Amino acid sequence: MQVAHSVESDAYPFEINRIGDVAGAEIIGLDLSKPIDIATRDAIMRAFLEHHVLVFRDQDLTKDQQAAFSENFGTLEHHVGRLPNGEPFPIVHTVTNLGPDGKPLGEKMGKGNFHWHTDKSYHEVPSLMTMLHAKQVPADGGDTQFANTRMGYAALPEATKDRIAEMKAEHSWEASRRNTKSPPATEEQKRERPPVTHPVVRTHPDTKDKILYVGCHVSHIHDMPRDESDDLLAELMDHTTQPKFVYSHRWRKGDYVMWDNRCLLHRASPNFDTANEARVLHRTVIIGTKPY
Ligand code: SIN
Repeated sequence: MQVAHSVESDAYPFEINRIGDVAGAEIIGLDLSKPIDIATRDAIMRAFLEHHVLVFRDQDLTKDQQAAFSENFGTLEHHVGRLPNGEPFPIVHTVTNLGPDGKPLGEKMGKGNFHWHTDKSYHEVPSLMTMLHAKQVPADGGDTQFANTRMGYAALPEATKDRIAEMKAEHSWEASRRNTKSPPATEEQKRERPPVTHPVVRTHPDTKDKILYVGCHVSHIHDMPRDESDDLLAELMDHTTQPKFVYSHRWRKGDYVMWDNRCLLHRASPNFDTANEARVLHRTVIIGTKPY
């Protein structure tokens, strides 16, 4: 259950209520379809750093308006995948369980999003934030879950922190497809997105917190036997996605959610009737900085 608590701060020029224990605050009263001024933008950014997941209620943005709002926070990034006709996804793309005939795909829908990940960690410069705007939501379920990887890191035993301090991992689109049992990466996608290396523990560029930087885009940890790497990655993932580090967002139509990919893993939940109900969200992604 989500319980709203007023945030004890005069710092925000809008109503903001905490809705999750480990992340999540709702913001009431802003209309994101209209331009925002610098002071509002900066206040949203402060709230973003404090709460990691922001939920703006009761929004109704066109795709162009979503692109314009998103650009307040940086440069928009394209999706790696291609549409069924081979065209690239538009800059505001649609996350949907509906097929080309407008009917729910059920078992045939892509399942990559059902695995814990941080957006585009298979890029040299991965994503800062992702925004999803709910256009159609199931009557029950279809949540997006967020795991706080700053809290996960902080709660690790000191011996594990020492062990992983200098480790580096390879991330790739190819590994992501393999790990999520999705159709394999095409040769073109492999050429366009070669494997990249990131620290297993990254420093949040704004808060300077230490963060576990893992997820389903990781292939392996460098300089260790593969089975040892697999075991360690599974241990770190199990640890940081424990329910006590997770906020589950139950969507309302009109919700506009933005989250910090630098300190969260996320995944879509298949806890809805995928064969009979529509779940349609518009998505934008903002480029971040190279992890260190
Ligand atoms: C995503 O992984 O960016 C989308 C998550 C969702 O569909 O809830």
